[in-house]
Formats: sequence, structure tokens, C-alpha cells
Amino acid sequence: MRKPIIIGNWKMYKTTSETIDFFKKVDHACADLKIDAGVAVPFVNLALAKQHSHNLIIAAQNCHYEDLGAFTGEISVNMLKDLKLTHVIVGHSERRQMFNETNETVNLKSKKILAKGMIPIICCGETIEQYEKNQTQQVVESQIEKALQGINLEDVKTIVIAYEPIWAIGTGKTMIAEIAQNVCAIIRAKIENLYDEAVANVVRIQYGGSVKPENIKKLLAQPDIDGALVGGASLEPKAFLLLVK
Ligand code: 13P
Repeated sequence: MRKPIIIGNWKMYKTTSETIDFFKKVDHACADLKIDAGVAVPFVNLALAKQHSHNLIIAAQNCHYEDLGAFTGEISVNMLKDLKLTHVIVGHSERRQMFNETNETVNLKSKKILAKGMIPIICCGETIEQYEKNQTQQVVESQIEKALQGINLEDVKTIVIAYEPIWAIGTGKTMIAEIAQNVCAIIRAKIENLYDEAVANVVRIQYGGSVKPENIKKLLAQPDIDGALVGGASLEPKAFLLLVK
């Protein structure tokens, strides 16, 4: 049985005071959750979020794949680990589309995160053009294969994959739950093909793209959807609590 994992991705939202306010309203109410729940906050507020949260996972939204060096503006996995963080999002479509993230850097980052004993949340998903041309399977299989290259069987069991059709992100157009299920099943089958059935059975796969309190139940009821990566709806304390509860 896979434990559900719901992570809010705050993207470039919330100042320091807004971050503190969120945790004051939300953290205590998450004390008895039976699932893994958390938020990925901007780098500048990670330490503070960790300080104000006792019941939620605090995740980073990105990292660099080198340990240290002359990389102005970048953040290493060592720095994140030192903050006692456990999860890092990699390969979000916004980073792929706007910040030159490639399948190769997703792979390097994922390997580095795993080497430090942390968990990458690896994002994949197709554009609207690819969806309309029926290329979803081919696109996500290739993203998954490249992201996991060189990652061993034991490590891959710990990762989280987030399937986010790009056309569903921030648009209010949630994918129909059964179609999202089909793609998540394709991703699981690909993992089985690359590793084995036992590995495929433990890897958790999230759906992301306009997830809201109104549609999360139906999505999570699908057999291959083990959680959600939520943007907009995770920013508001009330909506976040509805999502995780
Ligand atoms: P929305 O939930 O705002 O569509 O964003 C999804 C997303 O990109 C999460 O990473």
C-alpha cells in the first residue's frame, strides 16, 4: 500500500511574513494526518518554514547538481540537507520551459539528491501540442527513462514522480481523472520495464495541474495516482487543509 503524498508548490509566491502566517494557520491542524503532506517554498523562506512547521514536509523547488562552486545564484543539495530538508522538486515544466532545465540536468539533480539521502520529486508531462498529437505516452516515457538513467533499484524505490500535463497547470483545466490514471499507469509500467514489478509497485506517482479541493478526491481514488502536486490551491490555508484532509 503506497502512502499518499500531497505537496503544495508555492512557486514564486509568499513573502516571509505570509509564510509565517500560513504555518500558524495550518501546521497544528496537520498533526494527525495519515498521509505525507507538505509545501515547496521559495529558497529564501526554507529555513523559516522549517522552523515554523512540525507536521509538514518542507521541500525545495529546485537545486544545483554540483556540490559547490562558482555558480552565482544557485543552491546546492548540501545546503538543503543542512536545513534538514528531505524533498526537492526537480524538472518542473516551468523550469524546463523558462530556465533551460533538460532531461540531462533533471537526471544529474535527481542523482545528487539521492546521493545525499534525500527524495527527488521528479516532474514530467506533455505540452498541449503533444497531447493533441497523441504523443503523451512517448513524451512521459522518454522523460522518465532519461530522468532515471543510472539510478539504482534501491534508490528509485524512494522517489516521487509528479505527472503534470503542462496544459492543465494554472489553467483550471484539470485532466479527467480516468485519463490522468491512464498516464500514471503508463509511467508505472515504464518503471516496471526499467526495473521490476516490485519497484514499480512502491514508487509514488502524483498528479498535478489545477488540483483543487473539489476534484482531488476523484483523482486520488484512481489506482495509480498516489497524491498531488498542487500550485494555486495550496497557497490559501483553508484550501490547503481541505486538500490534505
Ligand atoms: P496549479 O495547481 O496552479 O495548476 O499548478 C500545478 C503545478 O504546477 C504544481 O507544481
